[in-house]
Amino acid sequence: MYPFNISFSKTALVLATTAAASMAYASAQAAEVEVLHWWTSGGEARAANVLKELMEAEGYGWEDFAVAGGGGETAMTVLKSRAMSGNPPSAAQIKGPEIQEWGELGLLGELDEVAEAEGWDALLPTTVADVMRHNGSYVAVPVNVHRVNWLWANPEVLAAAGVEMPTTLDELFVAGEAIREAGYIPLAHGGQAWQDATVFESVLLASGGTEFYQRALVELDEEALGSAQMIEALETFKRLRELMDDDMSGRDWNIATSMVINGDAGMQLMGDWAKGEFTAAELTAGEEYLCAAAPGTQDAFTFNIDSLAMFRVEGVEREAQQALARLVLEPTFQEAFNLAKGSIPARPDLDMSEFDTCAQQSLEDFQRTAEEGGLVPSMAHGMAVRADVQGAIFDVVTNYFNSRDMPAEEAARRMVNAAQAAL
Ligand code: BGC
Repeated sequence: MYPFNISFSKTALVLATTAAASMAYASAQAAEVEVLHWWTSGGEARAANVLKELMEAEGYGWEDFAVAGGGGETAMTVLKSRAMSGNPPSAAQIKGPEIQEWGELGLLGELDEVAEAEGWDALLPTTVADVMRHNGSYVAVPVNVHRVNWLWANPEVLAAAGVEMPTTLDELFVAGEAIREAGYIPLAHGGQAWQDATVFESVLLASGGTEFYQRALVELDEEALGSAQMIEALETFKRLRELMDDDMSGRDWNIATSMVINGDAGMQLMGDWAKGEFTAAELTAGEEYLCAAAPGTQDAFTFNIDSLAMFRVEGVEREAQQALARLVLEPTFQEAFNLAKGSIPARPDLDMSEFDTCAQQSLEDFQRTAEEGGLVPSMAHGMAVRADVQGAIFDVVTNYFNSRDMPAEEAARRMVNAAQAAL
């Protein structure tokens, strides 16, 4: 449905066909999977290790293909070049509409046998299962559900500033000011395009509401993208710079989280992979760190489902790949991985008693917002729009955020142009 571009598609197809024969030979030697992912921070690596250990316990080899870089942009670039040279890994962390893009290129292998044997259709919510299928066949398996619209905070810093967890954008600015006066950085942030977009979508959700979010960032409605509401969201987003420090440029997200952990900063707006860092630092949710819906977004849940898509492989590599797919949806993996990762399980039937209060809240809010209409896909994390459109929106958001003189009206106009790339 969403080919990257014609020349890439054709080259990839030719190379993939020639590669199939040589892969069959290579895989005759070892039942091993090579898995590309970008889970490289402390919490993420602990989570990825769960899968490696479960595969090894079943006698399969694990070749780790980790490409650092939050949000996965670098990982996707590396994956494209591996696929172009006819040598894709067995599985890769590919999400949302991008699964369809890879499926269209004919590079993904199907998992229907495992899916049927394990009853995936009954296990997975239909909305999740649909994303994992291409032309009716399962080609990917979901590992979790992340929530993106979260605020994290250090309770000692809040207490020192005499403030509570903010619940609206106005309260966020007031609390931020008090935190600054108490001698701390109010909001830890890393100046990278995907982090800017992560914060922006939460601000847009708070200032415009779910329906506006859906129209602007999911349906790419040009009227919404160029509207006064968009201009207001952009202006509020830019004001957040007042709460950030001067050294944020290029900073990784997990370094920003560590600033909250260490008590250098009060708060961070980030998805719940940040919880993986608090967990790795052995802090207790609700006591040593706090979580709450991003201010003003209590009735919404921006979801981000990580999944592993399977490339077309042969022989024992395929056998190992099918085992990988089976393990990912089994309760043992779902529980251990998600406890470390900060997310909640992809299958809704599991016992959540081992999970912390933030994860319990995430599950409750997921179910509540699904019923009430507040469940929306995250634009910043590849759930809402095609990769090329997402890239164009990232450029507008980050250029505006970093510009000294671009008016919000101009940024809104550029948003409309970015959406036209989707036509
Ligand atoms: C992924 C998460 C990852 C985060 C930071 C998100 O796009 O879905 O699994 O932890 O980026 O790298």
